[in-house]
Amino acid sequence: MFNTTAWNRLRYDAYAPIYDAVAERAFRRARQAALGQVHWRPGMRVLLVGAGTGLDLPWLPRDIELHATDLSPAMARRLERRAEALHRDVQAEVMDAEALDYPEGHFDVVVMHLILAVMPDPARGLAEAHRVLADNGQLCVMDKFQADARPAGLGRRALNLVTSAIATDITRQARPLLDDAGFAVEADRPVMMGTLFRALLAQKHG
Ligand SMILES: C[S@@+](CC[C@H](N)C(=O)[O-])C[C@H]1O[C@@H](n2cnc3c(N)ncnc32)[C@H](O)[C@@H]1O
Repeated sequence: MFNTTAWNRLRYDAYAPIYDAVAERAFRRARQAALGQVHWRPGMRVLLVGAGTGLDLPWLPRDIELHATDLSPAMARRLERRAEALHRDVQAEVMDAEALDYPEGHFDVVVMHLILAVMPDPARGLAEAHRVLADNGQLCVMDKFQADARPAGLGRRALNLVTSAIATDITRQARPLLDDAGFAVEADRPVMMGTLFRALLAQKHG
C-alpha cells in the first residue's frame, strides 16, 4: 500500500490543510535558492510538477506563462486560491507526474520541488519532464538526496521504510537519476540541513 501513487493522492489530500504550516517557512530559503539558479527570460513557458499548494508562486518571475500540476485535488485547489490571492494567472491541473498530458518540447522550464523523493518512480517522472521540455530546456530540482558517491547504508535504508510511508524517500541519489534521464547538471548545491537538501539546475541535452 505504501509508496504508491494512490497512497500519495490520499495522504496529500489529507495533508493539504496543514501543509503550509509545516512547509512554508521551513523551505522558503531553499526554494528561493533553487529558483534563483534558473536562467529566466520573459515569456518562458514554465511547468511546476507536484506543485502542492503553490509555495513556489511568490518566488517566480511574473512575466512567464505558468502551468502547475499536482496529483492531489486538495493541494491543487489551494494552489488555485494562492494564485488568485497573488493575482497570478496559473493553469492548474490535477495530473500524475508520471503521465504528463502535455506535448513533447512544450516547456522552457520544469520545476520539481520536493517531489522526486516522494513519487514512487522518480525515473518515470524525470523521463516525463525530459519529454515535455524543449531542447536545452531547464530542469529545476530541490529535494533531499543520499550522497551521490555512495548508496544509502543499512541504517538509512531501515529508517527509509518509515519515512517513505509518511513523508519521503531518503535513499535516492540525484546525479544518477538525472544522468540516466538525459540531463546535464549545471549547478548543484546544498541548501538545507547540511548536504541533505540540494538545489540542482540541469539542462535537457539538445
Ligand atoms: C512534499 S509536497 C511538495 C509540494 C511543492 N512542490 C512544494 O515545493 O511545496 C509533494 C507534492 O507532490 C505531489 N505528488 C506526489 N506524487 C505525485 C505524482 N505522482 N504526480 C503529481 N504530483 C504528485 C503531492 O500531492 C504533493 O503535493
